[in-house]
Amino acid sequence: MADAILRIDRLSKCFGGLIATNNVTLEFERGQVHAIIGPNGAGKTTLINLLSGDLSPNDGVILFNGRNITRLPPHKISQMGIGRSYQKTNIFAEFTCFENCWVAAQSRLKSSMRFFRPARHLQAVQERAERALGLCGLKPRRDIQASAMSYGEQRQLEIGMMLATEPELLLLDEPLAGMGREESLQVIELLRRLAKEHTLILIEHDMDAVFAIADQLTVMVNGRVLETGTVEQIRSSQAVQEAYLGVEEAV
Ligand SMILES: Nc1ncnc2c1ncn2[C@@H]1O[C@H](COP(=O)(O)OP(=O)(O)O)[C@@H](O)[C@H]1O
Ligand SMILES: [Mg+2]
Repeated sequence: MADAILRIDRLSKCFGGLIATNNVTLEFERGQVHAIIGPNGAGKTTLINLLSGDLSPNDGVILFNGRNITRLPPHKISQMGIGRSYQKTNIFAEFTCFENCWVAAQSRLKSSMRFFRPARHLQAVQERAERALGLCGLKPRRDIQASAMSYGEQRQLEIGMMLATEPELLLLDEPLAGMGREESLQVIELLRRLAKEHTLILIEHDMDAVFAIADQLTVMVNGRVLETGTVEQIRSSQAVQEAYLGVEEAV
């Protein structure tokens, strides 16, 4: 691949006797949206957890911009430029939108920033939080308490919190889960906007959304990569039709 932002080589993760990630080798190209699909239990969230440092692999290597990040703790990985959202919302309900973004910006500010004077540091945090709010489309809701917002807005805020860490690569675990049609369309629009300036790894069940946003597609089944390629290649793959897409249509 010409310009891979992330390379995974023979990555494996076991939980007791269960191999949740089984010898996964993949490349993710800079600037693209790479979706990961597969049935429940396929190992998608586990893979994201390995990339974000929330889990440590049993085997294999993860290279981000050519640097080995395998087994680094989550805060280090975040500071290097990988942001993640969680499958379940992770916001502080009693805080406003701005305060949630502020906390995220503060907690993940690069250690180099500690050399600035406190006032300069606070200003940088403030700027990051404001920028993230603008990017995620919640500027008009800046001072609203998170608990008073709709579920869709809360998921949007979670993306805002991730953006407050100023990541280069975004790991998104089912950002549309539990959303109605209208809310989904808004978040799909948001993802499209983010894709212009970031690389995205997107786990998503909504196949319309995946086909609308993704450049590359990887299909996982039982912890393994069944197939990876462009959206068109996956659409026409016999193995995928049989193992996954066909099942969807039959439901
Ligand atoms: N912390 C854990 N401890 C034990 N088993 C786990 C843990 N996390 C995930 N698993 C198991 O690993 C497999 C893959 O799970 P997961 O990565 O969440 O799949 P997906 O996100 O594709 O639905 C499942 O069988 C799940 O039960
Ligand atoms: Mg999952």
